[in-house]
Amino acid sequence: MDAKNTKQATLTVDDKSFEFPVYGGSVGPDVIDISKLYAQTGMFTYDPGFTSTASCESKITYIDGDAGVLLYRGYPIEQLAQGDFLETCYLLLYGELPTPAQKKDFDHRVTNHTMVHEQMARFFQGFRRDAHPMAVMVASVGALAAFYHDSTDINDPKQRMIASMRMIAKVPTLAAMAYKYAVGQPFVYPKNSLDYTSNFLRMCFAVPCEEYVVNPVLSKALDRIFILHADHEQNASTSTVRSAGSSGANPFACIAAGIACLWGPAHGGANEAALQMLAEIGTVDRIPDFIKAVKDKSSKIRLMGFGHRVYKNYDPRAKLMQQTCHEVLKETGHQDDPLLKVALELEKIALNDEYFVSRKLYPNVDFYSGITLKAIGFPTSMFTVLFAVARTVGWISQWNEMIQEPNYKISRPRQLYLGDTSRNYVPLDKRT
Ligand code: CMC
Repeated sequence: MDAKNTKQATLTVDDKSFEFPVYGGSVGPDVIDISKLYAQTGMFTYDPGFTSTASCESKITYIDGDAGVLLYRGYPIEQLAQGDFLETCYLLLYGELPTPAQKKDFDHRVTNHTMVHEQMARFFQGFRRDAHPMAVMVASVGALAAFYHDSTDINDPKQRMIASMRMIAKVPTLAAMAYKYAVGQPFVYPKNSLDYTSNFLRMCFAVPCEEYVVNPVLSKALDRIFILHADHEQNASTSTVRSAGSSGANPFACIAAGIACLWGPAHGGANEAALQMLAEIGTVDRIPDFIKAVKDKSSKIRLMGFGHRVYKNYDPRAKLMQQTCHEVLKETGHQDDPLLKVALELEKIALNDEYFVSRKLYPNVDFYSGITLKAIGFPTSMFTVLFAVARTVGWISQWNEMIQEPNYKISRPRQLYLGDTSRNYVPLDKRT
């Protein structure tokens, strides 16, 4: 462990006291190391949803949820948003910003891996055309392990890096293929003279019968959206990737597991759900009824794109997303999008409503991302896929960090068992 033991914590149970080391991070709350708790006390901790549990040490991303701060490798997200996505990828993966020469080499290496094995195209034919692109992503990213055997040895640092580059480069290609397959258009091969995000837009929206010209404003906006989603410390999908990786599974399988977790509406699926919600509300005059329904717990309706496990303040990504949203709507002539009006009014009302204020529920990154992505031209079913494209670098960086940890252990939580105690089996013919 790299962290410093700063003090001891004492746990007293039934008049017996037990000491546990407390470690301080470079910033943020201290942690009590309870890894010896069971050995010392015969008890487990109970923390469903891991609200108070640090599962690992990490040097990649830091969030101060109360202050609304997000740092990648120490750099504030607002500053990184001035650069490009591949620069952020390099930073997350290697820990430092690249020099111009390193950046050029990195861009070249990623570009070199953008194509996928031609057999993958046939693999796609097995899906129904109406398959959700996230289902296609889970399957096709997992299937990469069947094509790239030469980068699945997790103990070889060189293979790990090749797998990382392949993933950053090929996930957008697969995402674009998933989109093309759904809309019944031919796949578009990557064009390596374009930058990462322009190439992605072209793979999604170009057709063989016309010239496709990338709109630089939209490309820049999507690139920024990728930066905002690149990593977010130990969120559900990243913890899933680490958990899958802790068994020694190959990186392609681990990223596929992360994509599966991201799909849920409480996580990456929220951008899709948020846009659906805005469309269902439809007009500003219907907002009060909607807010009333959200506050009525029996309705189980949530204000999608609001609230966060860690941010108890405005999500810094949401601010940048709102700005990006305005830029994109201006460029595409959608400034008067009725959904934007609903979103702005909904945000205003919620931020002044006691229910949301007292629970510290603020807009998160997904509140404005749906409107923005829709204006760029993506259907809602692709929103979470775009999140997966961006988050791939975070997952793979966290996976690499874990594998390099000398004493990493298989993730294996314990439980509070409330089921039957031991009882005898009754043969079927004796059961009434
Ligand atoms: N709308 C209405 N009430 C909410 C919401 C919401 N969006 N989020 C939380 N609450 C209430 C919740 O009902 C609870 O109230 P009470 O104390 O009366 O029981 C309280 O706030 C605390 O909520 P929680 O569910 O215990 O909080 P959590 O940390 O477990 O959940 C969350 C975090 C993101 C799952 C949740 O806020 C949520 O469901 N938000 C909507 C979905 C969403 O936008 N997700 C995207 C997250 S950002 C992208 C990403 O990182 O994946």
